[in-house]
Amino acid sequence: MAAKRPLQIIFNRIYRGNSCRSFGALSENTMTSSSSQNLIDLEYQRSAHNYHPIPVVFSKAKGSSIWDPEGNKYLDFLSAYSAVNQGHCHPKVLKALTEQAERLTLSSRAFYNDRFPLFADHLTSMFGYEMVLPMNTGAEGVETALKLARKWGYEKKKIPKDEAIIVSCCGCFHGRTLAVISMSCDNEATRGFGPLLPGHLKVDFGDEVALEKIFKVHGDQIAGFLFEPIQGEAGVIIPPEGYLKAVRDLCSKYNILMIADEIQTGLARTGRMLACDWEEVRPDVVVRPLILFDYSRKGIRWRSDTCQCSASRQRCYALHSAGRAWKAGNGCCLSRALYSNAVPPELCSEVYLGESSTSTFGGNPLASAVAVASLDVIREEGLAERSAQMGQELRQLLIKVQQQFPNVIKEVRGKGLFNAVELNSQTLSSVSAYDICIKLKERGVLAKPTHDTIIRLTPPLCMSLNELEEGAKVLHDVLKLDVPKMQKEKPETVSQPATNACDHCGRTL
Ligand SMILES: Cc1ncc(COP(=O)(O)O)c(C=O)c1O
Repeated sequence: MAAKRPLQIIFNRIYRGNSCRSFGALSENTMTSSSSQNLIDLEYQRSAHNYHPIPVVFSKAKGSSIWDPEGNKYLDFLSAYSAVNQGHCHPKVLKALTEQAERLTLSSRAFYNDRFPLFADHLTSMFGYEMVLPMNTGAEGVETALKLARKWGYEKKKIPKDEAIIVSCCGCFHGRTLAVISMSCDNEATRGFGPLLPGHLKVDFGDEVALEKIFKVHGDQIAGFLFEPIQGEAGVIIPPEGYLKAVRDLCSKYNILMIADEIQTGLARTGRMLACDWEEVRPDVVVRPLILFDYSRKGIRWRSDTCQCSASRQRCYALHSAGRAWKAGNGCCLSRALYSNAVPPELCSEVYLGESSTSTFGGNPLASAVAVASLDVIREEGLAERSAQMGQELRQLLIKVQQQFPNVIKEVRGKGLFNAVELNSQTLSSVSAYDICIKLKERGVLAKPTHDTIIRLTPPLCMSLNELEEGAKVLHDVLKLDVPKMQKEKPETVSQPATNACDHCGRTL
C-alpha cells in the first residue's frame, strides 16, 4: 500500500517526545516485552521502513473488532484494504484454516496436492468457468494481466513486435512492482527506480472523451486499458455514471482488452460482487486477488464442447456472469486467474501464460482450503447485499456529521461499504487526515488516510449498525473536541504552490 510521507515525518509521529533512539543491539527488555510501544520500536529498528502505520498494534481480532497487546479494543474501519471483507477470524474460515494447517500447508506446484484440484473444481463448477491459475499478491495479478494483454496484443491483434501500449489512469494504484509503478502517478513510488517500463500512456480517470481520443490516435498499438472501477488509493474516486459502460464500448470498438483492477472494490465490497456489476459490464480481464479472462469479445473462438452459446454473445455473458467473482482468502494470501470456458485451452496455459507465470506458493493447499470457505461465507451471509445496505446507512450517518461540520467535511462519498470522507484542507489548515486518524485511533476507531485530506472508511462487511453508529460518533467527537485543540497546538500553514506534480502529466492529484 502507498507509503507517501517522508521518513522524518513518520519518525516524528511515531516517536513523539524526547526519546532518542540508538541503533544497534536491542536491549533485553525490548526483546522480551510485548507492549505496543516495544513492538513498534522493534519493528522500526529491524524492519525496512516501507510503511507509516497508525501506531496501534494488532494482537487479536474478531469480526469488526481489534485488540492491542494491552487489551484495548478498537473498531476496524479498514479491513486490511478489503482483504478481510468477511470479518476477522471468521469461524468457518478459521476451521478450514486450522484443519488444513494440521494436515498439509505447502507442496509447491512441482507436485500435486489434494486441496488445489478440489478447490479448482469447486470454483469452476460453482461459477461455470473452466480453469484457474493461482497466484499470490495483487501486484502479481496486475503484472500477469499486463503480460497477458501484451501477449494477446502481439498474437491476436497483431501489434508489431515490442510496440504494445497499455493505457492506465491518472491517480491509479495497482501495486508496487516495477512494471506496475511504471504507470504510477505517485512520484515517491517511481523516483529512484528508473528506468521505468516503457509502453504505456496515461488518461484522466472517468473521462470517456479523453479515452476515445487516445484510442483513436494509438488504437492499433494499444493492447489493454487498465483501470480501477472506483479508484481506492486516490481517495475512493467514483467515475461518472455510464463510464464503465463507455469503457466497455470503447474497448470493444477499438479491439482493446478492458482490464478492471478490482483488488479493493471486488467481491462484495461496493455492494455488488464486482464494482463493474453496477453497470452490468463484463471486462475482458478482472484482477481481484484473482484474474478472470474473457476473450469472447475479442473474436477468439468458444470451445464448442463446453460452451453451447456461440450464437449469442449476450447469452454467453449471462451464463458466465456468475463466475466472475471470487474471494481470496479472508486475510490468507492467495491470488488466482480464472479462465472462463470462453478461453481456448491453448491460451489457458501453453501459449499465453504457461510456464511464464508460475508461482511456488500459488495453489498451496492451505490457501485453497481457506479460499473455498471464504467464498462460501460471502455467499451464505449475503455480504454483497449487506454491504449495499450498510453502506447507505454509513453514508447517512456521515452526512449528518458533515451537516454539523460543513466547513470541515467537504464531501462524503462511496458505494456499499467502500467510503471516504474528504476534508477541507483550507479550514483544517495544518491538521491533516493522518492527524485525525491518530485521534480516531485514540478514541477506538481505526481508519487510514489517503493523501492529506481523505479518510477511507471501509469496515468489514459484517459490521453491525451499532458499530457503524459508534464509528460516526467517534468522528463527530474528534472533529468537535480534538481538531480545535490540534489547530491551536500546530502552527498554521500557508498553502504552498504544488511542488510534487506528477512526473507523467505535471499535475498535482
Ligand atoms: C487497486 C489495487 N491494485 C493492486 C493492489 C496491490 O495489491 P498487493 O498489495 O497485494 O500487491 C492494491 C493494493 O491495495 C490495490 O488497491
